Amino acid sequence: MEQIKQYVEQHKQRLLDELFDLLRFPSVSADPKYKQDILKTADFVAQKFRDAGADKVEICETAGNPIVYGEKIIDTSKPTVLVYGHYDVQPPDPLELWKTPPFEPTIRDGKIYARGACDDKGQFYMHVKAFELMMQTNTLPCNIKFMIEGEEEVGSSNLSIFVKANKERLKADVVLISDTSMISMEHPSLETGLRGLSYLEVEVTGPNRDLHSGVYGGAVANPATILAKMIASMHDENNHITIPGFYDKVIDLTEAERKALNDAPYDESEYKKDLEIDELWGEKGYTTFERTGTRPTLEVNGIWGGYIGEGAKTVLPSKAHAKISMRLVPNQSSEEITKLFTDHFEKIAPKSVKVKVTPHHGGEPVVTPTDSVAYRAAQKAIAESFGKDPIPTRGGGSIPIVALFEAELGIKTVLMGFGLDSDALHSPNEKYDIYNYYKGIETIPLFHKYFAELS
Ligand code: BES
Ligand code: MN
Ligand code: MN
Repeated sequence: MEQIKQYVEQHKQRLLDELFDLLRFPSVSADPKYKQDILKTADFVAQKFRDAGADKVEICETAGNPIVYGEKIIDTSKPTVLVYGHYDVQPPDPLELWKTPPFEPTIRDGKIYARGACDDKGQFYMHVKAFELMMQTNTLPCNIKFMIEGEEEVGSSNLSIFVKANKERLKADVVLISDTSMISMEHPSLETGLRGLSYLEVEVTGPNRDLHSGVYGGAVANPATILAKMIASMHDENNHITIPGFYDKVIDLTEAERKALNDAPYDESEYKKDLEIDELWGEKGYTTFERTGTRPTLEVNGIWGGYIGEGAKTVLPSKAHAKISMRLVPNQSSEEITKLFTDHFEKIAPKSVKVKVTPHHGGEPVVTPTDSVAYRAAQKAIAESFGKDPIPTRGGGSIPIVALFEAELGIKTVLMGFGLDSDALHSPNEKYDIYNYYKGIETIPLFHKYFAELS
């Protein structure tokens, strides 16, 4: 531990400068206009792997954005850790809400502000630097493989093809990912599950063209009103989702599991204060941790139609749209839920409109084991570097590829994230504490050490 701390202390400034260089690339995967930046980011990551001492570094082309692969095999009789992360980021919009530009990383109050600072550049780069540290100090105790992709934020569909085609190359004993949150630095935690996702877009069409809202209004159904009603009807008075069959496959937690989950520290007034809301909302009968970690949900991510420009235009729109996501828990399946939603949405549509449902990406929920050697290694690593045992939690977000690693490669995952829910992932002013960045670089070598020792 002393040697690790010393290395980080000695190289402090460079470790930060390199992350800043990485954060300057606008590697947005959702918008094709950033394609050149994506390619430059992949080159940068590959070069950093080489510099750190990785072998067989390769930029693997896919039908979409490239995957950066690198490895260091020290002894085939030793265990192998496969590190996964993503160099792509979410779009920075709305730009006007950023205090400093999203791709000009800036430090304020000990925090790095930039798109991708936490999700996931700041977090995956800790692994590159921890690897460098182990190489430089001659302490790499196991084999290591890196796979850093560029399409996580858009559903990882090309990565899943890559994984199926590269099973031999990706053979490993565990997948290690830092792309999740901790409760706080005072309460270090490990996520032991992720929700799945079913994401789709709906279109409601009324008349064949936009109409004068005075001439026709009152006699023709307004698709925006109809869409709002249809969406509102999908939660009942207990905020239960009304799609028939939606909860059929949900596995309820045991009382002991619920208790363990709710033992984690939680301050409701702080939670509300941070978001500036006076009251929480959610499915009746469940706590906040249960609602975000163990229960499925349905959210509107965006809704539009008609005139949304400056001033007022009197118009009865021809169409209204919404983007809807459902977060899934074991044993719901993304495909089944998408089908249930589609059937229901078509069924509740009044005859005055036509509806169309277009599925986007999806992913399956996962629960990661807490009785494995790898989980124990993560527990020990965190206990040593934070001076406190980590609390097991369930993550509300999704990393769809985790279920696929298990299904295709037969490898389980450890989610050792160092972010905070308050890091504003996907929001303006995303941040990552410098403290967490260094802490991650210090903790990761301990994971490898204990994983090799306990294996
Ligand atoms: N890193 C997040 C997922 C995450 C964040 C998990 C915090 C747990 C805690 C990841 O990059 C992400 O945003 N995933 C998307 C899914 C993807 C298919 C767009 C998500 O959860 O919305
Ligand atoms: Mn992420
Ligand atoms: Mn994300």
